[in-house]
Amino acid sequence: MQVNAVPADVDLEGSTIIGGVFADLLPAPGSEELFDQVDPALIEAASFEGKAGQLLMAPHATAKTLLLVGLGEETDFQSLRAAMAGAIRSVRTESVFTVLGSVDLEESVKAVVEGAILGSYRFKEYQTPDESEVTVAQLGILGGDDEEVAISVVGADATNLARDWVNTPAIGQAPAAFAESIVASLQGLPVREQIWDLTRIEEESLGGLLGVAAGSPREPRVVILSYAPDGATTHLGLVGKGITFDTGGLTLKPGKAMENMKTDMAGAAAVAAAIGAIARLDLQVRATAVIPITDNAIGGAATRPGDVLRPLSGPTVEVTNTDAEGRLILADGLGLIHHHEPDLIVDIATLTGSMHIALGPSIGGFFANDSDVSDSILQAAARAGEDFWEMPLYEGYRKALDSNTGDIKNVTGSPYGGAIAAALFLKEYAGDGPWAHLDIAGPGRSKETTGEWVKGGSGFGVRTLLEVARGMAAPG
Ligand code: BES
Ligand code: ZN
Ligand code: ZN
Repeated sequence: MQVNAVPADVDLEGSTIIGGVFADLLPAPGSEELFDQVDPALIEAASFEGKAGQLLMAPHATAKTLLLVGLGEETDFQSLRAAMAGAIRSVRTESVFTVLGSVDLEESVKAVVEGAILGSYRFKEYQTPDESEVTVAQLGILGGDDEEVAISVVGADATNLARDWVNTPAIGQAPAAFAESIVASLQGLPVREQIWDLTRIEEESLGGLLGVAAGSPREPRVVILSYAPDGATTHLGLVGKGITFDTGGLTLKPGKAMENMKTDMAGAAAVAAAIGAIARLDLQVRATAVIPITDNAIGGAATRPGDVLRPLSGPTVEVTNTDAEGRLILADGLGLIHHHEPDLIVDIATLTGSMHIALGPSIGGFFANDSDVSDSILQAAARAGEDFWEMPLYEGYRKALDSNTGDIKNVTGSPYGGAIAAALFLKEYAGDGPWAHLDIAGPGRSKETTGEWVKGGSGFGVRTLLEVARGMAAPG
């Protein structure tokens, strides 16, 4: 979808024009004229009251359709974004205009642009095209500012790119194909890319990644991305979990738990999409990403429970549960990112079912080893309109990772506090510098289409990472 700022006197013919109405039928700023054109009898007959998310289609003098969306009692960034997302899904014309960017709210244009781009997302790659379907091709933001629109488009498009990767079935996205697709997405941007193949991964002694990859006939990859603009004085290091399919390995997952495990590379997708967006926005911050990618499969050569792996640096690991594989590849990812000496390391992963259970489907959990880091994650998430909650790096549980055979085990064996145990494991490899670990096992995929969420891969975390980078960037 093309999104542009357009002047107030634009030609509306054949299009849909979207306006907003608060509860008790109070037209939103900018929507007064539109509202006045709607026949009160129609509003009455449709029981339209301006409740959040309510929609009303009406005739319009020049546009094909006037679409009013309810904004409820009062609106904030997230509710305006959700309202726009719901509205765009009911549009049946190729061209759409909206006055919702004039709602009296800081960043209303960003909320509207994100709502439209995220809400209208569909993954159709593997479906037979439906010729009768009308998709929105252009959205005009009446009275919007060109630059604000363009900046908002970048974050939303990056989120949809991550969604495409997450939604692609594992059969179509082997580690090598995913790595190449990441590099292809960065074409023309000032980002240096490297892809390490199996031989290089062996030469570099990434024992965690090799241990997880051992059960799959599909070779692992490591993607290293570097964006280093001249003016940058700070450096963000990103690491993303790229498990292209998680069977659990020999500690095999039950069928139901395996169903959606193509999602297990959502952290990798978020990191790759975020680096692209950082470069597109020309942010004055250096950013390096390390993305380890592999299947976690079963096979004769697979790592067995009780085997000991040697990650690049840090403790050796007794793998007592092969389904706790994300932390094994992240151990190498964290080890590698240190070579680039970033000022802050952020890793992101669909790491634990435990976090999903703790925070549910809409909230990402994060851990930080420093209160300034935790503040910057919370601020970034708030600016991105993503819900992240801080969890404790509770050292009291560290002892449960002690191993008899190796330096450390990859799981505690207890069903409780699993997300914390995973974070404590990663801490062993994260070093002493500023570090945050984002666990998006819950919100990495959405069960339903509601507001800006569309059933399937969510792209959750992309815009928070982008805001972390923006927070570190020198004014451009
Ligand atoms: N990929 C899963 C975590 C996950 C679960 C992501 C549900 C998204 C939705 C991870 O590799 C895993 O299997 N973790 C285990 C760890 C356990 C064995 C300690 C888990 O959470 O059950
Ligand atoms: Zn697993
Ligand atoms: Zn996993």
